Amino acid sequence: MDKIIIEGGMPLKGNIRVMGAKNSALPVMAASLLIQGKSVLHNVPDLRDVKTMVALLRMLGAKVQKTESHSYLIDASTCNQFEAPYELVKTMRASVVVMGPLVSRFLKARISLPGGCAIGSRPIDIHLKGFEKLGAEITITHGYVEARAEKLKGADITLDFPSVGATENIMMAASLADGKTVIKNAACEPEIKDLADFLNTAGGNICGAGTDTIEIHGVKELNNAEFSIIPDRIEAGTYLIAAAMTNGYVTVTPVITAHQESVLEKMAEAGIYLEKNGEGLTVYRKGTLLPINIKTMVFPGFPTDMQAQFMAMACIAEGTSIISETIFENRFMHVPELVRMGANIRVEGSNAIIAGVPSLTGAHVMASDLRASAALVLAGLVANGATHIHRIYHIDRGYELFEKKLATLGARIHRERDVSNEYHV
Ligand code: UD1
Repeated sequence: MDKIIIEGGMPLKGNIRVMGAKNSALPVMAASLLIQGKSVLHNVPDLRDVKTMVALLRMLGAKVQKTESHSYLIDASTCNQFEAPYELVKTMRASVVVMGPLVSRFLKARISLPGGCAIGSRPIDIHLKGFEKLGAEITITHGYVEARAEKLKGADITLDFPSVGATENIMMAASLADGKTVIKNAACEPEIKDLADFLNTAGGNICGAGTDTIEIHGVKELNNAEFSIIPDRIEAGTYLIAAAMTNGYVTVTPVITAHQESVLEKMAEAGIYLEKNGEGLTVYRKGTLLPINIKTMVFPGFPTDMQAQFMAMACIAEGTSIISETIFENRFMHVPELVRMGANIRVEGSNAIIAGVPSLTGAHVMASDLRASAALVLAGLVANGATHIHRIYHIDRGYELFEKKLATLGARIHRERDVSNEYHV
């Protein structure tokens, strides 16, 4: 295992490029299973989760070739397996998005039921109810969930909650079903629209993606497609916050501002200046950071995936901020670690009350999940002295070359082997 070590105090300066969105690349790669032929995907980020998805697609019999540093050729015509095993699903919950494509194309799928994870219990009941509505029979035995159908038939499906994964899975399952499916109370995240755009490029017939009502007209088959993934709004947001926290001057490119409105509004409230610069945004500040109140919501509300990073920023703001997490029940794992660095945070149920302090101090801290790890890195960038962030492997699931990119902006940051894990008592 590795750890990241940061000597805080350097203002970040320069330009940084954002990669393709992890949360779009994963479902689009899974959707390639629906296609009898070849998918050519560009702007796929080089991440651990993407490698896990490649392993899963290969396990299912697809041929996957990395053609360039961020491009893949996927040929799913050879797909002949229908199971996502425990070993893979336990390392990446998003593996569950192969279920919709498999049941749609082969009328059968068997997936290890994802358990809870660091941020919450995360059931998949909404996905399964959707498959049932389309005509699949669902059984759960020995920790696996199995879907089988004679054929899938379009249906009207109202989601109990606008779950991102359920919307994607049901949209994919419906794309080869007979007739029309309408998903109401659908998730509206930009990654859903990206997935629909990919399916439509392959000959699908989907409209309304990106709104809360999606209509999917089932087609007989999907064909060869070439597609480029949208930029990662969470990666972009993380670098914008890093620049603002360190009182730096950074241009982050590309940023689709329509995907970021709630985040950019909160940054403006925090006293941060943002200027459009071609396809990018330049970020800087003129005074101290101001406190902010945030409630995580489904899109277009404030994204839960940016909550931990904003909390790191609120720790050094002048005044008291309140951050409410409404999407996941246990997404404050970074709080005790930030407190170890001198932050003043009190958690009351789903609210965190953060009284800003003049400065943080470097400490040994433990990363617990992807965005919590990013928040600890941000805190380390402004802390006095050295911060050692252990269990940093979480970062590699969602940020490509994170510490290297920050180092090019002037951060004193590096990664090394974590020998502390090798002590035995
Ligand atoms: C996706 C994102 C993740 C982001 C989250 C919310 C990917 C790969 N991951 O995760 O980064 O934080 O959206 O924006 O795209 N729920 C149920 N039953 C279900 C499904 C979900 O109760 O069947 C609950 C979850 O436990 C959670 C909430 O709904 O509390 C939101 O989950 P969901 O939108 O499904 O998130 P994911 O698709 O897992």
